Amino acid sequence: MGSRGGTGPIRPSIAVFCSGNGSNFEALVRANRRGRFPGRITVMVTDNPNAFAIERAKRLGVPVLFVDPSAFASKEEYERALLKELRLWKVDWILLAGFMRILSPVFVRRYRHRILNIHPSLLPAFKGRSGIKDAFEYGVKVTGVTIHFVDEEVDHGPIVLQGCVKIREGEDLASLEERIHRLEHRLYPEAVNLVLTRKWRIEKGRRWVLLS
Ligand code: GAR
Repeated sequence: MGSRGGTGPIRPSIAVFCSGNGSNFEALVRANRRGRFPGRITVMVTDNPNAFAIERAKRLGVPVLFVDPSAFASKEEYERALLKELRLWKVDWILLAGFMRILSPVFVRRYRHRILNIHPSLLPAFKGRSGIKDAFEYGVKVTGVTIHFVDEEVDHGPIVLQGCVKIREGEDLASLEERIHRLEHRLYPEAVNLVLTRKWRIEKGRRWVLLS
């Protein structure tokens, strides 16, 4: 047994965290506006004032919250400020979308089983910052995308959804990256919809299981 889900607010307030390009953020906002998952993306949170995600947010009319990590003496203080802001925005769920900062156990526990992350490989293979390139260079024939709950370890929590991409004969890295991103943009909204609309539980802190 473990935690049960699917009983939160009917229209949760969702924050998307980004550090860079923000293509998943944009895909999530567009899917949300098409009714692909309930609730509303109320704010885009970034740790990088130069993130292209900020431009996307402006274009999409989504408020941006930039909390500058360099303005705080420690990670603890930075996260405390972040949590305070999230309370003001009444954030129920957090979607990490290329947020290149590791959240501390204190932060993760505060939003226990209400933070999802997307990773561009079939976890537990190829964790880290360059999942697509690492898989490509390793020479795997199949790689993919994972959407998972965030726990205290990096790229580790219970898996909600995975999708695979077969690497084509003679394919280059740029082509693989493009196909992985296309899959990410389709799968992330689907995973968010699953966790927000279905009943589920997490068994032994590991297996995410649908109940209905
Ligand atoms: C995505 O491919 C995401 O899976 C990856 O960063 C990219 C962000 O792209 N995340 C990780 O590697 C996390 N370990 P985006 O900013 O265009 O959405």
